[in-house]
Amino acid sequence: MKPKQFLWGASLSAHQTEGAVNEDGKIPSVQDTRIRNNPNIADFSVAVDHYHRYKTDIKMLKDANITALRISIAWTRIINRDGSINQLGLTHYDHVIDELINAGITPIVTTYHFDLPDYLQQSGGWKNRDTVTAYYAYVKVLFEHFGDRVKQWLTINEPNIMLLADQKIVGFHDDAVDRYQSFYNLMIAEKFAIKACHQLVSNAEIGPVPNISYVYPRSSKPEDIRAAMEFNSIRNWAYLDFSIKGRINPIFKAHLHSLGIEMFIQPEDRELVANNVPDFIGLNYYTSATVCFPDENEARSAGVSDQQSEDVYEPKHYKGITNPYLRKNQFNWTIDPLGLQTTLEITNDRYETPILITENGLGAYDELTDSYEIHDQYRIDYLEQHLTAIDSASENGVQVVGYLPWSAIDLISVHEGIKKRYGFIYVDRSDSQLKDLKRYPKDSYYWFKRIIGERS
Ligand code: BG6
Repeated sequence: MKPKQFLWGASLSAHQTEGAVNEDGKIPSVQDTRIRNNPNIADFSVAVDHYHRYKTDIKMLKDANITALRISIAWTRIINRDGSINQLGLTHYDHVIDELINAGITPIVTTYHFDLPDYLQQSGGWKNRDTVTAYYAYVKVLFEHFGDRVKQWLTINEPNIMLLADQKIVGFHDDAVDRYQSFYNLMIAEKFAIKACHQLVSNAEIGPVPNISYVYPRSSKPEDIRAAMEFNSIRNWAYLDFSIKGRINPIFKAHLHSLGIEMFIQPEDRELVANNVPDFIGLNYYTSATVCFPDENEARSAGVSDQQSEDVYEPKHYKGITNPYLRKNQFNWTIDPLGLQTTLEITNDRYETPILITENGLGAYDELTDSYEIHDQYRIDYLEQHLTAIDSASENGVQVVGYLPWSAIDLISVHEGIKKRYGFIYVDRSDSQLKDLKRYPKDSYYWFKRIIGERS
């Protein structure tokens, strides 16, 4: 990927912004049917009503000098339950994409962002190879229909996080064998997307979009070093090795073997895997991770108080801990801009492929003042520090082709509803009250506009 100019933009996903869950023939996704542990956080039924207000949102983004917007298309708006095409869904995204192009904003489209059609989950979800077939049919519709206008595509949002995260959120499986089978099928699905995109869209570029965060060891104790090496392979390199190098990462493979699971590229998939290589890497980064070798006498949660590390645990292999050298945000996530530089340089060292930063941002409680302003200096600080890290990585030879922070507008956080805000644009609603959903630019909006103006 070599855009003529650096892409200054922002990101969002369909289910976290659109709402309109029962409109224009949309069928339920796993996000619509998901049972929440906490009933007090907003669901996605209205979200921030982007489905109806996309014109206002795009106008505000254009006014901020943004030149690229990462959106996702909801599979559940495009393909009906019987496999036929929903024309109303295509028409909606025609309007969105045309609006973006007319505003001078390049659309960068993710084909699937955590919102698997629920009926596919009911018949096994990603564990079932039929889901790969269904995905292939779906993405071909996207490339055929939108490929005349959309030239930059992203395959599947964060399969590596789907492997590790709370399964109820992303519609995966609790059993380890099923989970790794699902992971394999997701990696194969991506290969079909790359194949179809290159076949059906002229001058297309397509990349994976994993969440890559370098994993530090807690100490120089050799067991801790090995724990970090192992978790790096599982969290980061397993997916990218498959995507870019067409191989099962050997440390990942050995880890699976120790769990009694064998993973190899099936003979019938070998040609597909070898011949369909992405054009760039889309990379989501929020913070780094730190692990230690788990002491058998230590409880799973001992020493863990940051949300990013809580789920990181495999007895006898690794355990997530809070990095004592890092500050935390209001939601208990550590902040590590230098970790972004390290992550970019190591990713470049391994893959030598251009990198588009497709997510990076700060979830925070924002306050709308009586004069309808939002003073989010903490977000400006976070983004400034991460931009400095990107600049340093670029000086050290990493080809970073764009920066698309999360998120363009406030949206419903996957884990914590709307109280955790990421946007440059504030949306006036709370978890319990829809209010008027009016949009207000935050201080970070004006800051980003100035940065883009100065650096374009
Ligand atoms: C990324 C996802 O991993 O993390 C986004 O792609 C998500 O969809 C973001 O919103 C932040 O996580 P959360 O839980 O704060 O929404």
